Amino acid sequence: MIREKEDVLILALESSCDETAAAVIKNDRTVLSNVIYSQIDLHTLYGGVVPEIASRKHIEKVNQVVKKALADANVSLEDITAVAVTCGPGLVGALLVGVSAAKAIAFAAQKPLIGVHHIEGHICANYIENEALEPPFLCLVVSGGHSHLVMVKDYGVYEILGRTRDDAAGEAFDKVARAIGLGYPGGPKVDRVSREGNPEAIAFPRPKLVDNVYDFSFSGLKSAVLNYLNGCQMKGIAVNQADVAASFQKAVVDVLVEHSMHACAQYGMKKFAIAGGVASNSHLREALTEACRRENILFYHPSPVFCTDNAAMIGVAGCYEYKKGVRHGWDLNAVPNLKLGERIDQMNQINVAAADA
Ligand code: KG4
Ligand code: ZN
Repeated sequence: MIREKEDVLILALESSCDETAAAVIKNDRTVLSNVIYSQIDLHTLYGGVVPEIASRKHIEKVNQVVKKALADANVSLEDITAVAVTCGPGLVGALLVGVSAAKAIAFAAQKPLIGVHHIEGHICANYIENEALEPPFLCLVVSGGHSHLVMVKDYGVYEILGRTRDDAAGEAFDKVARAIGLGYPGGPKVDRVSREGNPEAIAFPRPKLVDNVYDFSFSGLKSAVLNYLNGCQMKGIAVNQADVAASFQKAVVDVLVEHSMHACAQYGMKKFAIAGGVASNSHLREALTEACRRENILFYHPSPVFCTDNAAMIGVAGCYEYKKGVRHGWDLNAVPNLKLGERIDQMNQINVAAADA
């Protein structure tokens, strides 16, 4: 690859859950390579992610995905400007594999190391295919572990307006999928089966929280689905899987759209983005496209491959952090419950001059 001297090339690693991924990003938003090894087939056997198995598989795959990401991008380790890695939140054993590998690579190649917040990565996935997107904008982050309504005030500057009080949206999809016999991974299966069902068939609740209108709660909705299924069983009524899936999905989508549009209106925000695994849900994308069109709001959404876990999004976030001067020390650790906006291990921050010396 022909590399200009001023080009910033980030090698990024992601291993927070069940995807072992590596990518190379050039100058903020250009994806030179994006390699994802998904462990889904392995965990499907157990009906969900088994943390110990995930960690072991990451160890087996991490060097392979890094090698392929460099080869696909046609760059060598010497060409790389810095190494970025997800350091939280996520499964601690899984995160540790990526963090240890990134530290080893950065140390051996004498490159700066940057720890990246996983949710910040999800948000930054929106920059990849939307060249014109700049903060400020509002972002709905809906994944297996998180449901956040975030005001992106600037690159790396976030204000969380609302969050889930209990289950994340993706978690609710996964639990309901299991209950209606669709198995793991629940989200994509509910999405697919819902197309055959009637979203108005069953009136599931749309939970609202009075003290913060932007917060979410999905555990009541999940319980309502379980109660419905129990009721059917007791009365000997056959369950229509597609109708339950479609009605549940509609309830989740209605709440997500309602909260998002309410926040856009209250903050006078005309740019709205979505991120995280659930952002690839076709019904949610359609409903938000329509709502944003109605409200005259620009709607941004990553392609599905950049919605679910990947390293390209970590590379984009890492690139902006790099340009802000963020560097981490060799004592960078995995932080399973890292909060968005929290400085990653402030003690580990070393200044740019020292790192680049
Ligand atoms: O962002 P992600 O890959 O991992 C986390 O950071 O959690 O999100 C995974 C979640 C899972 O709960 C999965 O069921 C859900 O995203 N998901 C979906 C769809 N595709 C993935 N949920 C609804 N519809 C989909 N099409
Ligand atoms: Zn994720």
